This record gives sequence, C-alpha cells and structure tokens, in this order.
Amino acid sequence: MNPTSQKNACVFGLGWGDEGKGKAVDLLSSAFDVVVRFNGGANAGHTVRVGVETFALHLLPTGSLHENVTAVIGPGVVVDPIMLLSEIDSLAKRGFDLTGRLKISDRAHIVQAYHKLEDQLSERAASDEAKIGTTSRGIGPCYADKMKRTTAVRFSDLLYEDNLDDRVRRIVSDRKTSLGALYSSDVELDPNAVLADLETAKVRLGGFVCDTTNFLHEAMDEGRSVLFEGANGMLLDVDHGTYPFVTSSSTGPHGIGPGAGVPVSRVDLLIGTIKAYATRVGSGPFVSELKDEIGDRIRERGKEFGTTTGRPRRCGWFDAVLGRYTARLSGATDLALMHLDTLSGLDPVGICVAYRIDGNTYSTPPADTGLLERAEPVIEFVPGWNEDLRSVRSLEDMPHAARTYIERIESLVGAPVSIAGVGPERSQTFVRGRIAELIRQPEPTTT
Ligand code: GDP
Ligand code: IMO
Ligand code: MG
Repeated sequence: MNPTSQKNACVFGLGWGDEGKGKAVDLLSSAFDVVVRFNGGANAGHTVRVGVETFALHLLPTGSLHENVTAVIGPGVVVDPIMLLSEIDSLAKRGFDLTGRLKISDRAHIVQAYHKLEDQLSERAASDEAKIGTTSRGIGPCYADKMKRTTAVRFSDLLYEDNLDDRVRRIVSDRKTSLGALYSSDVELDPNAVLADLETAKVRLGGFVCDTTNFLHEAMDEGRSVLFEGANGMLLDVDHGTYPFVTSSSTGPHGIGPGAGVPVSRVDLLIGTIKAYATRVGSGPFVSELKDEIGDRIRERGKEFGTTTGRPRRCGWFDAVLGRYTARLSGATDLALMHLDTLSGLDPVGICVAYRIDGNTYSTPPADTGLLERAEPVIEFVPGWNEDLRSVRSLEDMPHAARTYIERIESLVGAPVSIAGVGPERSQTFVRGRIAELIRQPEPTTT
C-alpha cells in the first residue's frame, strides 16, 4: 500500500468479550501488512473457522494465520511465554510458520506461574458475590506487578538484566510468604521451576523480542498498514467496564497508545464488534440477561461456550444502553454485527433500550454494581425472522425483519453496520461501505 492510501484500523469488542473479533480480524487481515495485539493476555480466545478447521488463538494475533502478515505482540500485552510457545508450536504443526514474522515487544511483561497461582487462590478464597470468575490465566496479578514495578519482569529483563535470577528468587520467596499468609494454604512455588520457564522463554522466544514500538512507527512511515486487534471487550475495560467485574487492561482503541506505543490518531477505522444479542462469561451484572428457555436457545444455537475456559456463556437480549455507551467511549466509526443467524426463529426479538432503577429511567449505565444488579430492562420488541441467514451475502438479500433489526441497532448505537456475521465460517460474513473498499484494495506489500 502506498502512504496516501494507507489506512490503519482497530477491531475491538463493544461487549463483555467474545463478540467475534477473531473472525472480523481474519476477514480484514489480507488487506493489512501488520496485525498487533495491544492488551490482555491468554485470557483472550479468538476463533476462526476455515472450512472444517477451527483455530483458537489466545496470545498470537489472529492475523498470524495470514502468511504475508507480520504479527506483533505489543508492550501492553501480558505474555505467558510457555502458553505462547505451545501456540507457536501448534500453529507450526498446522503449517503456519512464524519464523521471521513474529515480533514480541521487549517492553511486554511476563506472566509467571505465581501469577496464575495467585489468580486461582484469590478467586477460590473470595465469597460467591465477590468472585470475578477470571480465566485463571494470571492476568490481574501480572498487571498488578507491572504497576508495582519492582516485582515485574519484562522481556527486556530476560535478555539484559544482570542478576535477574537473584531478583526472581527473591520475588518467588516473598510471594510464597504473602500468598501463604493471605490464603493460609500450603503454597507450592518452586523458584527453580520459575527460572527454568524463564530460561526456556529466553532460548526459544529471545529471537522474536525487539522494539516493536519503533518497528510499528517505521512500518507506518513506509506506508505499511496496521490492524490493531483488541482483546476482551469494552465492558471489561478496567476504567469504563462493569467494575470490579472486569479485566485489568484498557480493552478499546484507547489502549493502543499505552499498549502499542502508537497514538490512536493514526488509526482511521475503529471497528466495534458486537453480537446481535448479548453474552457474558464470568460474574457481574447483566441487565438484559435471559435466564429462561430463550436464553438457553440462544446459547445452544450460537454455541455459546467459552473459547478459553469452555464455560457456558450467559445470554440475553441486545443491550442498546451498553452498546451506545461503549460505541461513544471508543469513538467506533463502524460496527461489526455478528451472530445474526443465531436469532433466526425467535419472534419477536427484544432490544433493551433503557434501564429502570428504583423508579428512575437510565439511558446510560450507572457505575455502581448494586444499582446495575437492581436494574430492570426496558425491552422494545421488534418482529423476528424465520429464514436461515447462513447463505445470505448482502444486506439486500436479508429478510425484511432482519434488515429492520440491523437499522434499529445502527440508530440506537450510533454507528453503521459495515460487517455482518451470518455464521461462524470465514465466508459467512459480508462487508459493505468503505470497509468493503478497503478489503478490495490490491494486495499489500509483504514485510
Ligand atoms: P472473540 O473472542 O471476540 O474473537 O470471539 P470468540 O471467538 O471467543 O467467540 C465467538 C464465537 O462465535 C466463535 O465460536 C466464532 O466461531 C463464532 N462466530 C463468530 N461470528 C459468528 C456469526 O456471525 N455467527 C455464528 N453462528 N457464529 C459466529
Ligand atoms: P476475548 O478476547 C470473554 C472475563 C472473564 C472474567 C473477567 C476477568 O476472547 O473476547 P481475567 O482472566 O481477564 O482477569 O477475567 O473478564 N474475560 C473475558 N470474557 N472474552 C474474553 O476475551 C475475556 N477476557 C476476560 O471471564 O469475567
Ligand atoms: Mg473470545
């Protein structure tokens, strides 16, 4: 791509994760030179279905499945090196070689065994109301160490820090004491095992580690296009989500600055991915949740079971209060609306358009969990459709009721639907407007 036509984009979630970001990134990747993860870690699970093959990526950007794409793991990602290695190895076995096209930021932080242990112990010890329902991937404890600074280990430390072994031994010993005191359990933490994992990471991943911030700026200055792949979703954002039932990173385009070292002003298209209904995995308020046979039906039809943990996802009607909130926060320029096919056969279909709390009407979500737990959804019912949408490839071919539903969501959320999902397959998606123009552009330059 030449510099004048160069476009950078971000695909991110507008919900509580699992909106279909992996599928949207996969669809767009062939039009980009570089795909970058900038937040989260192995809590993410991004699925792509190609024919009979399914790929579920946790740490590698989904763009890794495209051989002309350079895959970047940015400074804002917390990386479990052992999980990353198993992901690299399993992709290699399936014919995807990342040699020469994977870059890991030297500023990225390393998730250690004691982070995962702390995640599990703190969840186990919490009361039922306080449990976050984390993915047990050590995400919160690793980001906490990053903020604490003295107890953090980055990839650059792995390569350059003198006496890293001594520091790690001290960290492990202190963590054993503090976890033992907090959770009064027999904490099994072997410093030699932690050091062995770090040695494996150094030997096998060291060659991928570099200054990805500089790489991205140089790439953009040369006219190469960059796609930023958000993990988790805006409702799990540490600042703006349904706190404290959130993850520990900035999950929207605002995370690109800290998480990739690129100002968000360089990103032209902000594609907010959202399902045609709502899902959530883990604890926390969910005003439009359907704890009845309609919710069960959506879960069965949409195969709503977690990609990372296998847990059943909670299902509910599309929540336009939250959709408008996260679209505004993120400045979404376009929507990728997924799983329209899953709603086929439901008539009518509900949309949550406001909340009633203690006799008051809310059009934007309150911060307080207690208020959200007490909220009653105000549901607008619209006609549903019975047709199977899986072979539909344009808006014009959609049944009238499905088109009307899409238009209603566009108007409530305040952004156009540019990508629509009608099935899990790579091909079961259609694209319109400028995103369609973008992916019709000539092949990008290879890196
Ligand atoms: P991500 O975390 O946002 O990448 O989403 P996940 O991959 O965790 O979950 C989305 C699930 O929905 C995956 O199993 C996808 O294969 C599937 N999926 C994505 N888009 C559609 C769609 O339009 N229709 C259907 N039926 N499934 C979809
Ligand atoms: P993708 O990228 C769905 C949820 C967890 C839990 C909370 C905190 O696949 O959309 P954490 O392990 O991050 O401390 O868990 O956040 N969560 C996700 N839910 N999809 C995700 O990622 C998620 N990442 C975190 O279930 O409720
Ligand atoms: Mg997922």
